[in-house]
Amino acid sequence: MNIFEELESNVRSYCRVFTDVFVRAKGSIMYSESGAEFIDFFAGAGALNYGHNNDYILEKVISYLQSDGPVHSLDMYTGAKQTFLKRFSELILEPRGLDYKVQFCGPTGTNAVEAALKVARKIKKRHSVFSFMGSYHGLSLGSLAVTANLNNRAAAYLPLSNTAFMPYPHGFMSTFDSIQFIDTVLKDSHSGTEKPAAIIVETVQAEGGVIVPRRKKEARRRCLGEHGIPGEDEVLRDAVVDEHVSERLPDIAVCQHVLGHEAEAKPQHVDEPRRDENDGVRDDQQLDCRRQRSGPERV
Ligand SMILES: Cc1ncc(COP(=O)(O)O)c(C=O)c1O
Repeated sequence: MNIFEELESNVRSYCRVFTDVFVRAKGSIMYSESGAEFIDFFAGAGALNYGHNNDYILEKVISYLQSDGPVHSLDMYTGAKQTFLKRFSELILEPRGLDYKVQFCGPTGTNAVEAALKVARKIKKRHSVFSFMGSYHGLSLGSLAVTANLNNRAAAYLPLSNTAFMPYPHGFMSTFDSIQFIDTVLKDSHSGTEKPAAIIVETVQAEGGVIVPRRKKEARRRCLGEHGIPGEDEVLRDAVVDEHVSERLPDIAVCQHVLGHEAEAKPQHVDEPRRDENDGVRDDQQLDCRRQRSGPERV
C-alpha cells in the first residue's frame, strides 16, 4: 500500500484516475517518478493557462520571496495587492470601461461562488438563486446547492435548498427557449417561483464536456438586464470578460483559477463556432459532448 492510500483520507478524486506520482512539471509536460512524460491537458482545471513553472512567473515569485515580501497578511494592504489592483484596473477594467469592484476571496472557485452568492443575497434581500441544469459551481455547501450533479449533491447529506434549476438548452431540449421560460417564470405572478437573488450562469458549461449555450447575449439582456438580477460564474475562463459574446455585463463576474490578458499571453486561436445574427452558436454547432474531463495524457 502506498503512503497516499495509507495516510491520506478517502476524499480524493483525480488521483484515482491519474495514479502516477508526479515529481516535475514544466510548461505543458508533467513527469512522473517512473520517468514517464505526460502532456497535461487538464492544466489545473484552467489554473495553469501559462503552463507549469512558467519562467517569467517563476522569476517574479522568486524575486518577491527573496525580497521578504509578505506571503500572509489576511486582508491587510500590501504592496503586492496594490500593484495587482493597479495592473488589473489598467489591463482589464479601464480598457473596457468597467466599474467593477474587486473582492478577494480564498483561492478556489467555490470560494468565489460563495462570495458572489452572499453579496447577491445581501443586496437583493432574497434567498433563492436560479441555476441551470448541467451546471457545476463547486462543492462547498452554498456552491453545491447551485450545482446540478445529483451524486455531488447526495454527498452533502443535507437538504440543499434555495435553488431553482432552470432548463439549459442541451440534449433533447437543445431547441428549448430557456430564456423565454425564465422570462415567463419571472413575470408571471402565478408561476409559483419567487424572484431569485441571482441567476448563476456558466458562460460555457464545462463539466464533462464543453457545452456552449445558445443565445447567451440575449439571455443576459433579457433575463439579467430586464429583471435586474445579478450573476455569472466565469471561473474557468482566463479573462474577466468574454468579449465575443458580452453585451450586457453581469453585475457580478466570478473569476477564479487564473487571470489572463491578451497582450501578455494571447491564447492559441481555436476555430470559432459560427454564430447566428443574434449572437448564439448555431444549434448544429453546439459542442455537445458530455464526456469525462481530459487530463494528463501519456506522451
Ligand atoms: C464553473 C465552475 N465554478 C466553480 C468551480 C469550483 O472551483 P474549485 O474546484 O476551485 O472550487 C468550478 C471547478 O471546476 C467550475 O468549473
